[in-house]
Amino acid sequence: MIGIFDSGVGGMTVARSVETLLPDNRIIYYGDLARTPYGSKSPEAIIEYSISNTEFLLGHGAKVIIIACNSAASVASDILRQKFAAPIFEVITPAVERAVTSTVTGNIGVIGTRATIRSGIYDQKIKAQAPELHIFSKACPLLVPLVEEGWVDARETKMILRKYLAPLKQKQIDTLVLGCTHYPLLKDLIQHRMGKNRIRLIDSSIEVALTLQGYLSENPDFGKTLQRGIENRYFVSDITKAAVATAEKIFGRHIDLEKV
Ligand code: DGL
Repeated sequence: MIGIFDSGVGGMTVARSVETLLPDNRIIYYGDLARTPYGSKSPEAIIEYSISNTEFLLGHGAKVIIIACNSAASVASDILRQKFAAPIFEVITPAVERAVTSTVTGNIGVIGTRATIRSGIYDQKIKAQAPELHIFSKACPLLVPLVEEGWVDARETKMILRKYLAPLKQKQIDTLVLGCTHYPLLKDLIQHRMGKNRIRLIDSSIEVALTLQGYLSENPDFGKTLQRGIENRYFVSDITKAAVATAEKIFGRHIDLEKV
């Protein structure tokens, strides 16, 4: 099984992309709704939650883990890789690779939670690949709670987005990384705000699913160890009406959330 975790429902955008690209592989998801958002927590707390989320997924049969949360990936990826033998994928590296190859102007924007932006991980990874590129980052801490509340079309959300994106609009960016797995739910609003033909949005949920697909085709024996033929399961540490509605919106069908 492919284990996927996030602080809440945002990582379901990753699960949906994995489901689309690798439909034969079963998914086990854990959304830590009781402790969302991670992006406003300390690195120590995020690391502790990430370790327990990974233990939960491995304990339920996951053979590979995707950290479907930029906030967790930015501070906990190396620690999880040291601690656990299973292959660990995360959303940041594939998004960086796509951004670096897609920019023409050399100016890349990154939006994410406070934890992700404060970690400087996108700057480090982009500069490591292409030191000549310019990166303009903006923390957008209100967006995760708005998405978790299901306010993806609300007027207030549009106003907040306008304020967050204004400084990036003034830079000559041609590529904008959605550095949070909740943001694909706001993709249309963000694209509209930034200009449809001017800016390419990088959706890390798609990029990480493509990376996993590549890994499994290069490692077919490992791929065979992933369990098939049983239903995907979606566990959460708390259930809210908004989460049920958002899950349905992401997948386009009802998802049974199981509380643990
Ligand atoms: N989806 C998570 C991310 O990618 C949200 C983190 C949070 O809970 O703040 O960063």
